[in-house]
Amino acid sequence: MLAFKTLALALSLLPGIFAASAPRIDKDKAALLVVDHQVGLFELVQDINPVEFRNNIVAHAELGFLFNLPTILTTSAETGPNGPLPKEITRLHPNATFVRRNGEVNAWSNEEFRAAVKATNKSQIILAGITTDVCTAFLALSLIDEGYEVFANADASGTFNKAIADGANDRMRGAGVQVLSFWAIVCELMRDWRNTPGAAEVLPFLDKYLPAYGYLARGHAAATTNGTILPGQGSLNG
Ligand SMILES: *[C@@H]1O[C@H](CO)[C@@H](O)[C@H](O)[C@H]1NC(C)=O
Ligand SMILES: *[C@@H]1O[C@H](CO)[C@@H](O)[C@H](O)[C@H]1NC(C)=O
Ligand SMILES: *[C@@H]1O[C@H](CO)[C@@H](O)[C@H](O)[C@H]1NC(C)=O
Repeated sequence: MLAFKTLALALSLLPGIFAASAPRIDKDKAALLVVDHQVGLFELVQDINPVEFRNNIVAHAELGFLFNLPTILTTSAETGPNGPLPKEITRLHPNATFVRRNGEVNAWSNEEFRAAVKATNKSQIILAGITTDVCTAFLALSLIDEGYEVFANADASGTFNKAIADGANDRMRGAGVQVLSFWAIVCELMRDWRNTPGAAEVLPFLDKYLPAYGYLARGHAAATTNGTILPGQGSLNG
């Protein structure tokens, strides 16, 4: 009996041991989902401030454009209080498949949406939505069940507060979803600054949506094109 229990315990630990396998995003294998980034739902987001969050959801949508990823837009009951997608997002993707759901909370429950995702022929999904705990998490869990490798953009998903976001991200991670920052997603899609898209395309994109990195690059450009060394500065590097 003890031996059986030991064996059972050992077997129960196996998934943990093998959970170390972590696929990397491959721009040739990935599709992008924009889930319920609707103007009404936007008002529910309290864990990221509105200025930053608007930046983050538009940046998420533009990832599809920058890396040429098949992109699917979806909304939930958009003629009701949830409202439409912001024009900044629909303007970026005039030709993307756009599935307007009339009731399904989990986008995966909608047949047209499932068919659109499958029609991309991609094995990896990058997604973000409002709210993190419902629209992002429900869909991410269904995609894992379907065998996709799933990457949730934490900066472009929002909800009522940080505790709820943390709970939702833990739930997704527990199911095998990788929860990443926008910066990590950009760098993993690009892989190498010498690729295409690489520095030439990605730096202007970062300057627009991730000013910390954009200004770093601007500072270096300014120093290189017209910088002077101040007294005392020259010896700082040792
Ligand atoms: C959308 O499709 C039209 C017609 O094929 C094309 O002219 C346009 O460049 C496309 N726009 C984008 C952003 O892909
Ligand atoms: C997906 O694969 C199927 C079967 O190989 C093919 O007919 C279809 O054109 C592919 N679709 C895309 C978007 O690549
Ligand atoms: C370079 O710096 C000098 C001194 O600040 C300034 O007068 C000049 O306009 C700058 N030139 C360029 C190309 O920015």
